[in-house]
Amino acid sequence: MRPMIRFLRSKFDSKILIGVEIGVSVGANAESILETLNIHKLFLVDPYIPYMQRKTLLTVHTSFNTLAKERLGRFKDKTVFIKKTSVDAVDDIPDDLDFVYIDGNHDYSFVKDDIKNYYPKVKRDGIIGGHDFERYWLGVPKAVLEFMHTNNLTLHVEASDWWTIKK
Ligand SMILES: C[S@@+](CC[C@H](N)C(=O)[O-])C[C@H]1O[C@@H](n2cnc3c(N)ncnc32)[C@H](O)[C@@H]1O
Repeated sequence: MRPMIRFLRSKFDSKILIGVEIGVSVGANAESILETLNIHKLFLVDPYIPYMQRKTLLTVHTSFNTLAKERLGRFKDKTVFIKKTSVDAVDDIPDDLDFVYIDGNHDYSFVKDDIKNYYPKVKRDGIIGGHDFERYWLGVPKAVLEFMHTNNLTLHVEASDWWTIKK
């Protein structure tokens, strides 16, 4: 289980939650979220189309979406797939989120936009965070640290997950 998900479990215990995962792929982390937390709705945002990251074109097979749907089939009533980029999906997402987990395109401008666009959608005392806070990804720590600094937020980092509690 990813550290941020463990933290959500310890913070919210069995509270009923509404959350978002940006970047779903075959649904491994989404499955962990659904197995660990008391989810009312989990919005799963992924366009499932090829994308450029670190100047490399990454091929995302449409079968990944099918695989995710199969894997998460037993949670059908709790999941909403949104086959759009995170920028395009913003208006499809409610404004009362308990958490957002960001794991889409890891390039700086995308992470920056994801934090900027989704932070306002999180309730006060909710959590925004994500994956791959690592030197290799560069854009992730850069965007995260800038946002923390600008908004005077406390950053938590553990084993490449990062998160903050919304003020
Ligand atoms: C690292 S994978 C996600 C893995 C998943 N979070 C997990 O841990 O099981 C990154 C995913 O981000 C998606 N992605 C790429 N650009 C995106 C964007 N602009 N908005 C949302 N998702 C995006 C890709 O299609 C890919 O499936």
